Amino acid sequence: MNKKVIAILFGGASSEHEISRISASSIIKNISKEKYELILVGITKHGEWFLYTGDVSKIANGEWETDDINKKSASISPDSSIGGLIVYENGKYSIIKLDAVIPALHGKNGEDGTIQGLLKLAKIPFVGCDTFSSAACMDKITTNITLTYAGIKKPKFAFITKNYFNSNKEKCMDYIKKTLPLFPLFVKPSNAGSSVGITKVHSQKDLIKAIETAFLEDNRVLIEEGINGQEVECAVLGNKTPIVSICGEIVPSNEFYDYEAKYISNDSKLYIPAHLDEEISNKIRKIASKAYKIMSCCGLARIDFFVEKDTNEVYLNEVNTFPGFTSISMYPKLFEYTGISYSDLIDKLINLAFERAK
Ligand SMILES: Nc1ncnc2c1ncn2[C@@H]1O[C@H](COP(=O)(O)OP(=O)(O)O)[C@@H](O)[C@H]1O
Ligand SMILES: [Mg+2]
Repeated sequence: MNKKVIAILFGGASSEHEISRISASSIIKNISKEKYELILVGITKHGEWFLYTGDVSKIANGEWETDDINKKSASISPDSSIGGLIVYENGKYSIIKLDAVIPALHGKNGEDGTIQGLLKLAKIPFVGCDTFSSAACMDKITTNITLTYAGIKKPKFAFITKNYFNSNKEKCMDYIKKTLPLFPLFVKPSNAGSSVGITKVHSQKDLIKAIETAFLEDNRVLIEEGINGQEVECAVLGNKTPIVSICGEIVPSNEFYDYEAKYISNDSKLYIPAHLDEEISNKIRKIASKAYKIMSCCGLARIDFFVEKDTNEVYLNEVNTFPGFTSISMYPKLFEYTGISYSDLIDKLINLAFERAK
């Protein structure tokens, strides 16, 4: 059997660069070496691309970037007649044809439709959501509007643009006050990730500062009512007929699941299954499947919810199109519990990429 040539993209010009290196390392370690020949492509935080042929153990800690003898400038060409990676060396170039790509990248410039657009132009099958669904799910305002319109319950929200806010501050503050009279509120950049730029706001006096903080990350900002609830996550896998895992639960170590609670502190807790009645858990799984289809997702997504403590009301929070994929991340763990091992999961994702490209 001919091995399929699969490129794994890691790193990326994103605030989630480091977590991508760990996701990619886990994928490289666990992917079937009988079925696939791997081409490793590292992208630095500045957006430089390299073919990396050195020791795989140098990927997770970032040492690959200084391993100069094992890296060569390389990039995927948007030219579909090339169908792969162009590698540059000593003023010459060579081409590596690719059967598929795993863009193991999180956040901006990876999970937001940019890489997906490039791969679509190149006509190379790739794992995960397409250009549109990646971009739409990355953008919290678009996700909120689309899902609310489709009848899926979201926390109440308002949104503003930077230009309008700068010249109409009072009007904006009035609009937010009218739409969202009660605190706490969450102020978020529409496009970001890893909780970067997000503030939980407890009173009117802190609102402007939180809005300005969010504007440092994006020109559009979302303001949401704060839900006092359990944080529940659900993994979805498939193209037209997706399967949904059981629910998992996050208990953040901080007041909310901020950057520190996600990546620095070891005190945030992850429970599989979530502490939920079966009825609510099934309701969440149904909503996850519906949201996945409405947002036109394919391949995979992790869909995050809040279950309000006093009322048991279910609110969808967000859709992550390339969720953390380390061997201890929620997405693979949820499917492991459902009976699909990490290696099988990678295999299924690659097959889904080929199926969609047909
Ligand atoms: N409306 C909300 N109510 C309560 N908590 C929220 C709300 N929005 C966000 N949070 C908290 O902030 C965290 C990060 O927000 P999220 O929208 O998931 O952004 P990111 O894409 O950065 O993960 C959530 O995991 C949760 O802890
Ligand atoms: Mg989140």
